Amino acid sequence: MCGIVGYLGQREAYPIVIKGLERLEYRGYDSAGIVLYDGEKAKLCKTKGKVTDLKGKAESENITTGSIGLGHTRWATHGEPNDVNAHPHLSNSGNLAIIHNGIIENYGSIKKELEKRGYTFHSDTDTEVLVNLIEDIKEKEQVKLGKAVQIALNQVVGAYAIAVFDKSKPDEIVVAKLGSPLAIGVGEGEFFIASDASPFIEYTNNAIYLEDEQMAIVRLGRDVKVRQIKDDKSVAAYVQELQLNLDQIEKNGYDHFMLKEIHEQPHAIKDTYRGRLRTNEGIIKMAGIEDNLEKFLNANRIIIVACGTSWHAGLVAEYIFEDLVRIPVEVEYASEFRYRNPVITSKDVVIAISQSGETADTLAAIKLAKQNGAFVFGVCNVVGSSIARESHAGAYTHAGPEIGVASTKAFTTQITLLSLIALKLAQSKGMISKTEFHQYLAEMEAIPDKVEKVLLSDDHVKYISSVYKDVPNFLYLGRGYNFPVALEGALKLKEISYIHAEGYPAAEMKHGPIALIDEQMPVVVIATKKGHYEKVVSNIQEIKSRKGKIIGIVTEGDKEVKSMADYVIEVPETIEGLTPLLTTIPLQLLSYHIAVMRNCNVDQPRNLAKSVTVE
Ligand code: M6R
Repeated sequence: MCGIVGYLGQREAYPIVIKGLERLEYRGYDSAGIVLYDGEKAKLCKTKGKVTDLKGKAESENITTGSIGLGHTRWATHGEPNDVNAHPHLSNSGNLAIIHNGIIENYGSIKKELEKRGYTFHSDTDTEVLVNLIEDIKEKEQVKLGKAVQIALNQVVGAYAIAVFDKSKPDEIVVAKLGSPLAIGVGEGEFFIASDASPFIEYTNNAIYLEDEQMAIVRLGRDVKVRQIKDDKSVAAYVQELQLNLDQIEKNGYDHFMLKEIHEQPHAIKDTYRGRLRTNEGIIKMAGIEDNLEKFLNANRIIIVACGTSWHAGLVAEYIFEDLVRIPVEVEYASEFRYRNPVITSKDVVIAISQSGETADTLAAIKLAKQNGAFVFGVCNVVGSSIARESHAGAYTHAGPEIGVASTKAFTTQITLLSLIALKLAQSKGMISKTEFHQYLAEMEAIPDKVEKVLLSDDHVKYISSVYKDVPNFLYLGRGYNFPVALEGALKLKEISYIHAEGYPAAEMKHGPIALIDEQMPVVVIATKKGHYEKVVSNIQEIKSRKGKIIGIVTEGDKEVKSMADYVIEVPETIEGLTPLLTTIPLQLLSYHIAVMRNCNVDQPRNLAKSVTVE
């Protein structure tokens, strides 16, 4: 939920850490801080606000020199976002500095013990407690920093990715991880620490991703030493070559990452099916499914666990799996599933969907599923992420980095991947005719061009946005495959424009939400030709007769809805099961333009963070 960056080497740490924090701001952005050591003093600068505020403050206070540095961008858990609670935190002696992403759950009892021993605390954070615990152990036990960190972490309960340095030993940073991501960039005579590889990708392609319950001693002139936190045993450090490039993590001329990512969808969808969709051979190739085919085919049911937008992709998958494969599917909010004592058996297949692969609730849900003997299949975007590693098998969406907090390409690529899985299973189970299977493959291959076509409606959507940008409420309606799209459209609008919006199954409107409809209420209705068209048209009439405003998402050439709606946005025709890949696009653009027109921070909406690594 926070972003951490560290540098150890011969260069000035300041510009590297600041730039790294800017790239990690998607992880949290309510306060930020940096600590640098220049051979004499550990200089600390922290502020409420964004990295740009930190930059202004650090430069005005001349805190810009030193070749060892740690930086942090925060999404508050313990203590309100202010200068004092911002990280880094120093120990009481001022010798140790720490940055932390996660939560120390038993910090209260540790704090009391430390207070008895004379420690004082300036912030409300759990992190300040942790750094003082490490200091206390270091002094009491007369051990090196690495050992003190290891002992301390065996006393804490919670989640963390931490980096700590001791100013009396400025050639070393100690890092550790449990539940929050941590990457170590290995350069020529220099090291980088970060929540993901984006802060160091222009310096090195070599990275070590720590596993949970591992720590590492990063020391100049030495190889990185990885150890297990529990028993202090040494583990081989696996240095992997990254596939990431700088273009993928920059805006490339777009005003916002969200807009860039919306426009990347044709490409991202292709990347998802590349190598898997083999239209000429008439097959779908997916090793993760092929190797575990029996598990899927013998499953009593599939349980999908996810949060937010990924949960909406799960709902689309429910429709397509039940439709094509005829396996019962349940879609669960991971946060509910993990706590409600669900019935899980070894005949269940659990699919976890997560862009980041780090969402705490989804991770906990799959751990629970595994404990109960279920087979867990991960659908993640971030390669090597915790959920990907925790799953028995899985497949990546290959959407490329998604930096905008509002998920866009993650959603469409998840649907693409889940559709491929459904098709593959339907074929293996003999549930789909050869002709229908081939139609699906051809249509899937045509989707990127069709998405490209929908994107051409951008100016038209922008105009519609200008008409409705000041309304207080929006309603989104859809049926069948487009019901989850209605939910997703409403979520997008809420999270980035702060307009209240609700998504509903169109037919449910008359059971309540219809009471909200008056001449002020814009209703976005997804009314494509395939998918209960006539029924949705009746719903539109019901809205019309109560003077609601209609924005219809319709199939190209549609006349009927056009004659009733205030505005329509056309999408090309496709197979019903694939319509969400097209109907979602105008809804993403609508929320984007409305948010921009309302001067909202589109990429970093208030109170949110890209990956929710706390409960
Ligand atoms: O990384 P995940 O897919 O697990 O994230 C789940 C949700 O936090 C995420 O989809 C969230 O709802 C997005 N901000 C929606 O745009």
